[in-house]
Amino acid sequence: AVTPVPREKTLDNSLALLKEGYHFIQNRCETYGSDVFETRLLGEKVICMSGEEAAALFYDKDKFTRQNAAPKRIQKTLFGENAIQGMDGKAHEHRKQLFMSLMTEDRLQELADLTTEEWRARLSLWEKEEETDLFQEAKEVLCRVACHWAGVPLEEEEVKERADDFWDMVDAFGAVGPRHRQGRKARRRGEAWIKKIIHEVRDGELEAEEETALYAMAFHRDLDGEHLDSQMAAIELINVLRPIVAITNFIAFSALALHEHPEYHRKLKTADDAFFEMFSQEVRRYYPFGPFLGARVRRGFIWNDIKFEKGRLVLLDIYGTNHDPRLWEEPYKFYPDRFREWNGGLFDLIPQGGGDYYKNHRCPGEWATLRVMKASLDFLTKNISYHVPEQDLSYSTVRMPSVPESGIILSEIKRK
Ligand code: HEM
Repeated sequence: AVTPVPREKTLDNSLALLKEGYHFIQNRCETYGSDVFETRLLGEKVICMSGEEAAALFYDKDKFTRQNAAPKRIQKTLFGENAIQGMDGKAHEHRKQLFMSLMTEDRLQELADLTTEEWRARLSLWEKEEETDLFQEAKEVLCRVACHWAGVPLEEEEVKERADDFWDMVDAFGAVGPRHRQGRKARRRGEAWIKKIIHEVRDGELEAEEETALYAMAFHRDLDGEHLDSQMAAIELINVLRPIVAITNFIAFSALALHEHPEYHRKLKTADDAFFEMFSQEVRRYYPFGPFLGARVRRGFIWNDIKFEKGRLVLLDIYGTNHDPRLWEEPYKFYPDRFREWNGGLFDLIPQGGGDYYKNHRCPGEWATLRVMKASLDFLTKNISYHVPEQDLSYSTVRMPSVPESGIILSEIKRK
């Protein structure tokens, strides 16, 4: 006999999602004793699932498609319309290769070096300031890094506005009202700016070095042999710039972790790369950023007694999988050393998606993220000393994206 499927009886669970935020899926999986359940969100039937097996299923391309998975409101803020996130099959693999080709060891080292350089350039200013807002500083530092690395010209006067715009595109993803509108405005402004630069490169008015993302996006040819239209080239270039700026959040959470765990701060002052890596992995696992991912059922099938009907929206729980007690001992403890024994599983640590980089949607920027995080952490622990004054160090597990409330204010910054 088939056991009754965990199907929520309430008409619509959107309010519960708003109230429970990052814990919404895991809470229900626990209640039902199941990795999967059916509910209604925003007027649509949705299947939610969590855990390593669910993640492996989610990345089975025969079963799922990304077409029409992300709502327009997300495309108009976070992703850009009709870009790589919503592509499937050979066209997706070809587009993905474009992003992966930017992630060579040389280019990643350059990215890390640029990050170190830009942090150091801020120091003399900070030494004169009473208080420094690390979140705002990180946004601007990473905006300079992202543009420089990608070959995009950036005037010093425009850094703040561009940095804020890139972050606002990210900050809008879980928002309604003003925060959402702010994200749309930021995207419109960002796309107009980058589109103009794409035109300049194509017209030969601006030179782009061959190894840069600017060059890659301007001259990429799709499977039909055609260049991307300038709008799409701009959107995909922004799909490199924006997420580099978004690493800000992981840096702010890293600083919070250093503050909450002074023993690790001490240890990092003399630690080698291996421990920097473990600490950064634990920041990505432990703190809330991406809540879940969406895809639609390509062909109907049954899994764990739940019927996955063709076209159904399915959400994979990122936060819950990163805190699944079957995968992580004491998941709500910040403990970098757990990564000493981690086997590098493709479907357990999924803050930036899971599975294969080249064949699936897993984030192509994961190595870049780790390099930027490690360079920033190195700077914070080895190059400077600072004080963390009294402030609200909390972060919400309901607001999406979650950010440290105070932005992490530092004072008495001194170079070492
Ligand atoms: C995809 C998270 C940094 C570029 C993704 C996905 C997540 C993610 C969750 C979706 C995976 C899926 O759909 O299965 C993050 C986080 C980052 C970050 C939390 C750190 C703040 C980066 C960086 C880059 C980047 C640094 C580029 C330099 C992309 C692109 C995609 C993507 C282009 C779409 C890939 C595809 O659809 O095949 N990212 N990412 N991300 N990310 Fe990242």
